[in-house]
Amino acid sequence: MKFAKSILFLGVILGMALACQRALSDAAHQYIPQKSAVAANSMVVTPHALATRAGLDVLKQGGNAVDATIAVHFAMAVVFPRAGNLGGGGFMVIRLGNGATDALDYREKAPASAHRDMYLDSLGNVIKGLSTDGHLAAGTPGTVAGLIAAHQKYGKLDFKKLLEPAIRLAEEGFPVSGAEADRLNSFQSAFRKFNAAPNPFLKDNWTAGDRLVQKELARTLRLIRDKGLTGFYAGETADEIVAEMHSGGGIVSHEDLKNYQAKWRKPLIGQYKDYKVISMPPSSSGGVALLQLLKMVEPFPLRQWGFQSKEAVHVMAEASRRVYADRSQYLGDSDFFPVPIDSLLNDRYLLKRMADFNASKATSSEAVGAGNFKISMESFETEHTSVVDAYGNAVSVTTTLNSNYGCKVWVDGAGFFLNNEMDDFSVKPGVPNQFGLVGAEANAIQPHKRMLSSMTPTIVEKEGKLFMVLGTPGGSTIITTVFQVFLNVAEFGMDLEKAVNAGRFHHQWLPDLIMTERGAFNPATRQALEGMGHRFQEVERIAVIKAILKLPDGRLHGVGDFRNPDDDARGE
Ligand code: GLY
Repeated sequence: MKFAKSILFLGVILGMALACQRALSDAAHQYIPQKSAVAANSMVVTPHALATRAGLDVLKQGGNAVDATIAVHFAMAVVFPRAGNLGGGGFMVIRLGNGATDALDYREKAPASAHRDMYLDSLGNVIKGLSTDGHLAAGTPGTVAGLIAAHQKYGKLDFKKLLEPAIRLAEEGFPVSGAEADRLNSFQSAFRKFNAAPNPFLKDNWTAGDRLVQKELARTLRLIRDKGLTGFYAGETADEIVAEMHSGGGIVSHEDLKNYQAKWRKPLIGQYKDYKVISMPPSSSGGVALLQLLKMVEPFPLRQWGFQSKEAVHVMAEASRRVYADRSQYLGDSDFFPVPIDSLLNDRYLLKRMADFNASKATSSEAVGAGNFKISMESFETEHTSVVDAYGNAVSVTTTLNSNYGCKVWVDGAGFFLNNEMDDFSVKPGVPNQFGLVGAEANAIQPHKRMLSSMTPTIVEKEGKLFMVLGTPGGSTIITTVFQVFLNVAEFGMDLEKAVNAGRFHHQWLPDLIMTERGAFNPATRQALEGMGHRFQEVERIAVIKAILKLPDGRLHGVGDFRNPDDDARGE
């Protein structure tokens, strides 16, 4: 009896200690998102307050913008699991305080045994869902290689330090936001379909404040911290990824993981009036398309016409129509296909491309094929973070699993979701992917090739000085959103908060319509555009910008988008 009482007493004490520890860690991981901040020295804008905090802490310890971005990226893999990732990839554009620029491509790759027709049935038809859901949809992940490459070239603090916030958040858990809880609830049946083993995301009803603890992910993060590349691309983690692949018909192999390398590329740089625009080259289409759009609308009096005037929307939509037609034909991984970047960005070509623009009538997309020029042979869930540090270094990085929680496959043992990035290839010429984008030979599947992206991490200079850092998730709408938010500031005179939160529209050649956010246009403008032959489709939201603007007095204004309740901007 006495013994039983002692056991009970011990049990109560242990329970109280655990509750106490949990309350303390919950208190440490509480957060209230902040959408707008102005600061004198540095700024971090991310999709989640706990990730922002991880980045700011690194800056306070003397780290630079690249260090902070790495800490944010790892933290996002924990607190923003629908898009933050270890199992995906991304693009990073860097502008140092001295004006030097760089770009890092850590996009996923097609596994070695991938082939052009792998998503087609015996009749040559696309098998629905095969490139978007389940194990076969995953490409070889690039995120860990990318973050390590970024650190090797630009990191200032010890790499190990940069993983600490993520490890703590995964180990101790954190309260999920309402937005994450909603998202988790809507994907329960997909999680159950593609995951035989139990995992921390399976739960009948998530509500805001529920704690998400990810012990397996904490272990993987520790392996990366202690072993670097081999903590992910070899050893236990690689074994777990490959075992997961074997369990569900996936094809990422040990060889694919061992051979994955991130790639430094020359950023694409273009001029729009007084602004120098620095963005991402292929394997993203983002930079090429953004620079094409800007050049095409540059001759038109946008400022005079005004924000969302029928004239401005018409010319911007018509430029988009032509740019996305070019994208479908000519854009792909430049390591595999001779993407004619110089021709696509040639001033005379872009002027000619708009020669059939009719100021009072929509051109039909059928009539707008991809542009013609002689090719010279020489030549719906992603995430973005914008960071500026006290040394004036800026980083714009977009990362993704592609869809929410990628292919929905959680690597048993290693604790993270894998991407479904294979769907960003053109799985069959002319057949639209999940974003409605069509492609051709340039973006056909080939072993080791990177699938074409629309991610557009961008940095803008004005008169030789840092002006703006921006980017967004949003699949095919990423490019047109970066385009519009920049123009909202540069042409339509908006402050950053207004520019980010203003209503948006999108045209991508096919389907031949202007997508608008519900209620974004005044009815008279829409009617006038319909009279010119434009068709409309309303959607709930278009993209989720995270941006930083250097104010005339030198301070930094950071803004997260109202469209994601968790977006968060903080500075020092
Ligand atoms: N997965 C979306 C993109 O890369 O564009």
